[in-house]
Amino acid sequence: MDDGGPVDIGAWLAEQESFEPPESFVEGANVSDPDIYDEFAERWPECWERAAELLTWDRPWDRVLDESDAPTYRWFTGGRLNAAYNCVDRHVEAGRKNRAALRWIGKRGETETHTYGDLKRETEAFAAALLELGVEEDDVVTLYLPMIPELPIAMLACARIGAPHSVVFAGFSASALETRMERSGAEYLVTCDGYYRRGDALNHKGKADRAVRRIDRDIETVVVDRLGGGLPHSLSENQHDYDDLVERNRSNVVEPVVRDAEDDLFVMYTSGTTGEPKAVRHTTGGYLSHAAWTSHAVLDVKPADTYWCSADIGWITGHSYIVYGPLALGTTTIIYEETPDYPEKTRIWELIQRYDVNVFYTAPTAIRAFMKWGSEHPQGYDLSSLRLLGTVGEPINPKAWKWYYKHVGGEECPIVDTWWQAETGGMMITTLPAIGEMKPGSAGPPLPGISANVVDEAGEEVAPGEAGFLTVDKPWPGMLRGLASGDGERFVSEYWEAYSDPDADEWVYFPEDGAKIDEDGYITLLGRVDDVISVGDARIGTMELESAVVGVEGVAEAAVTGAGGTLIVYASTEQGYTGDAILGEAVEAAIERSIGEVAIPDHIVFTPELPKTRSGKIMRRLLEGIATGEELGDISALRNPEIVGELRARLSGDT
Ligand code: WTA
Repeated sequence: MDDGGPVDIGAWLAEQESFEPPESFVEGANVSDPDIYDEFAERWPECWERAAELLTWDRPWDRVLDESDAPTYRWFTGGRLNAAYNCVDRHVEAGRKNRAALRWIGKRGETETHTYGDLKRETEAFAAALLELGVEEDDVVTLYLPMIPELPIAMLACARIGAPHSVVFAGFSASALETRMERSGAEYLVTCDGYYRRGDALNHKGKADRAVRRIDRDIETVVVDRLGGGLPHSLSENQHDYDDLVERNRSNVVEPVVRDAEDDLFVMYTSGTTGEPKAVRHTTGGYLSHAAWTSHAVLDVKPADTYWCSADIGWITGHSYIVYGPLALGTTTIIYEETPDYPEKTRIWELIQRYDVNVFYTAPTAIRAFMKWGSEHPQGYDLSSLRLLGTVGEPINPKAWKWYYKHVGGEECPIVDTWWQAETGGMMITTLPAIGEMKPGSAGPPLPGISANVVDEAGEEVAPGEAGFLTVDKPWPGMLRGLASGDGERFVSEYWEAYSDPDADEWVYFPEDGAKIDEDGYITLLGRVDDVISVGDARIGTMELESAVVGVEGVAEAAVTGAGGTLIVYASTEQGYTGDAILGEAVEAAIERSIGEVAIPDHIVFTPELPKTRSGKIMRRLLEGIATGEELGDISALRNPEIVGELRARLSGDT
């Protein structure tokens, strides 16, 4: 996908394969001593104290790492702290109460600034409100909210009283919310009346109500009034108005609950291979240390910065790098409600200029869109406040990397291509921006203190340049502590079984990503090797998606691919049905109902049959090749090779 196209990145830049960190950046960087790699290697696991020391602890830890229950590792055991205190109160106590914590940008013209002082009052009042509703320490609170200030406020209010939150992405459907609430056993829900997408008011409460109605227990629901009466709604029994609750509790004092380092901070649902969403557990001490440390060392965030991560808080990227990491460091973090091209394709650049954004962190899918819209858009703005750029979520191709480097960074900002997952809690593989040479397309070496390898099926390290599987053979502080369901067997089988030797108590984490490594130890990610599609912030299980499609009358079989950041559904039709626009709409509606608009595909390709092996298996890899236009090689294993040309023709004819 990296050839052709009249994209302006300059001839010399197009050829260059590696880039040194710009001098101007290195001078002021948070971490610039290359010895950090050796230091961390020699002092492992104590090296991770450097991360924990960024936080304020009520009681220091006794031990950095307890491996006695591997692969459930414990970090900073005996330590006690509160995450909300670390993200809010301590900055107020340090005399920074007037510093902006959240800068929210809603519909055009709509903005809010919440200082650290405001944030303390707001989280304390909402924490008091949650207590009034009956929330107790360790109760799970589901937050089904879009990108509005009440989302981080509610997260921090939960953290303040030691109630783990479970944020469900607002783009998910009622049925996806229902499954997640059923699984987590949550009895509390915070949601809102609606929110804006491309200027239109969307009804959000309707989805929340549908989910709650289907759950067989009482749910106390708090409803934020986002639209100011734009979509009138009424509150039924067990439903409470956010503003009323907060007003009533405005002057109540709620001291942050002192939590054990290993107590849960939140759970996060993520797609897995079986089609069943699973929740991973993240803890207070290890997770927050990891998020804060990587925000400091990799994103180079400083308290005086304005920092913008364009992800949605509903995904892990937003948890770690819009809320917890940046706020732990006391910086100003931007929360942007709308889409990047609304109302104009210059929106992002206009905001970077207006707010003097210093660090910008986004996903390759957004960068590809910016590139497609044209370099004249960023060029029309003064982006010189930018110091560092980041990317996350999927592999970035060198062309998009170089475009980002030139047209957004003005060739003066390092780019960190950060590999990590919901399960890892924070960044794992990336260059350190003032130290490592950057190689477009390659994330870089594992961070100091992280031990990652690329191995073959047997677990042997592969030679440089050869494709293999990524593994991580030492624990790290931000790692998941297990599944919220408590299913220890599934935890081991999903993440550890493939390359571990339990008899020898040797545990190797398997992230299910393909990768290769070069002579310098730089790792290039090749995409997921399981049935999960990662596109931008979203992570969607192919099984969930395919079963939604197959549920549509007239569809016989379905297969989905996500190569190159494009979501494609291939569906074969039943006898008597044609793959027309009406069936296409039915497929979209089914996906929206069962998962949400986030999973609506870029293309739907109907076909009389799907490519299958002689043993009857759908060849998904081949479909990926068709989507990316790659050479398919030997297709003799196919029972119906003629279908390949047919699918190619249909895909290119599809708009
Ligand atoms: C993919 C998002 C290549 C990868 C933080 C991983 C990446 C999955 C990168 C996790 C990157 C994330 N380069 N691939 N820099 N970052 N991925 O859990 O396949 O939503 O396993 O976490 O995204 O997705 P998740």
